[in-house]
Amino acid sequence: MANRAQFSSRIGFILAAAGSAVGLGNIWGFPTQAASNGGALFLIVYLLMVFALAYPLLVAELMIGRYGQADPMTSLRKIWPAQRALMGLVGLAGMLAVSLILSFYAIVAGWLLGYLIAPLCELVGLTQVAQWLETFGVARNLLLMLAFMWLTVMVVRSGVTNGIEKWSTRLMPVLLILFVVMVIYILTQEGAMDGLQLFLIPDPSHFSPKLIVSAMGQAFFSLSLGVCTMMVYGSYLSKSANLPKTAAQVALLDTGVAFIAGLLILPAMFVAQNNGVAIYDASGALLASDTLVFSVLPAMFESMGGVGILVSTLFFVLMVIAALTSSISMLEVPVSCTIEELGQSRHKAVWWIGCIIGVIATVIVVNFESLFGFVVTMTTAYAQPIIGLLFAILVGWIWHRDKVLAEISAGYPDVQSSLFWRIWPWYVRIVCPILMLLVFFVQ
Ligand code: PFF
Repeated sequence: MANRAQFSSRIGFILAAAGSAVGLGNIWGFPTQAASNGGALFLIVYLLMVFALAYPLLVAELMIGRYGQADPMTSLRKIWPAQRALMGLVGLAGMLAVSLILSFYAIVAGWLLGYLIAPLCELVGLTQVAQWLETFGVARNLLLMLAFMWLTVMVVRSGVTNGIEKWSTRLMPVLLILFVVMVIYILTQEGAMDGLQLFLIPDPSHFSPKLIVSAMGQAFFSLSLGVCTMMVYGSYLSKSANLPKTAAQVALLDTGVAFIAGLLILPAMFVAQNNGVAIYDASGALLASDTLVFSVLPAMFESMGGVGILVSTLFFVLMVIAALTSSISMLEVPVSCTIEELGQSRHKAVWWIGCIIGVIATVIVVNFESLFGFVVTMTTAYAQPIIGLLFAILVGWIWHRDKVLAEISAGYPDVQSSLFWRIWPWYVRIVCPILMLLVFFVQ
């Protein structure tokens, strides 16, 4: 397409891609997984997974998109023109997976929206509304999910530069500042040091093969890999950008935020315990992750008195912002396919896809017990790593090495003499697939 949209600046791209990566996975998933998997031990394995597996695949996915300069289905077909139908199917699989991820993500983000609004309702005397917003129920889950989907649709409707890039560059700095303020506050509270200790001092007794699998899944989810999201963002990236460097910046930002979230959530749990909130169950294990964020933290905020409302609002604003910069990147995948494959206008595509995902999310809300966990596991534990593996095989085995080199060289002219080029091609070709298969067998 001659006048396809593009991110207007490199920093705009980095903040948008980091915005996609930084989300509930970092602020909720990572710290709670760390808390129940030996703290620092999980942190170490996770860091290994990010740099040994996720980063090389992030470069690969961004590269397919930038080479294609088109929606993911078309970009994939350009990599292997002889297998157009098969490549279209792979793109379709990514698109379906990301739509399902968005449908459960919007439900959780909706809860966060509820926890954000509830204390404010309470403040103005709407106690019953506040209670309703914080109590699990079909109507409440549905309404809040739809509200969050509406926010996502509104941003994506405005397009790449005026919607996604504009809101990511506005929201990401706010998120980082809010985060640092919260960490400083929490670390001055009594009990915080116990949480810090758990997070920073490894306990090898927790080591198990399962921990490696969890860390890999977490790394894939956190970097938004294997579902064409990074591919579609890569397709809006200018040819002059240095891909390995840009991907490294995105991965570092994402990992940095996960680390800071650990500095916030783990100490916060122990501060909560200090304030009389239970964080262990009867058997002595840490409470499940949803209980941690949705009951331990609010209980802690409540025990803080007046300032608690402020801290709670800050925390949930942070969560909603993080979720929104991720959800817009998810919605962009099916939207870009609909615009470019079916020739629809952005406006129409966004509303149609937004409604379809809203309907899928409604089905999940109504059958929550049987569907929610199932969809989460199918998409994050299976679809993301398997499709990610397919991308690695495509880049490593199918795509001609000279073309890969030409694509990277576009924004990195002396790449051929770099350490990156000596390692990365065979690494994606051999090491990444073997590592991923090993992890699958362990599972
Ligand atoms: N990376 C996001 C997070 O950590 O919350 C989740 C995510 C975004 C997954 C976009 C997949 C995706 F395509």
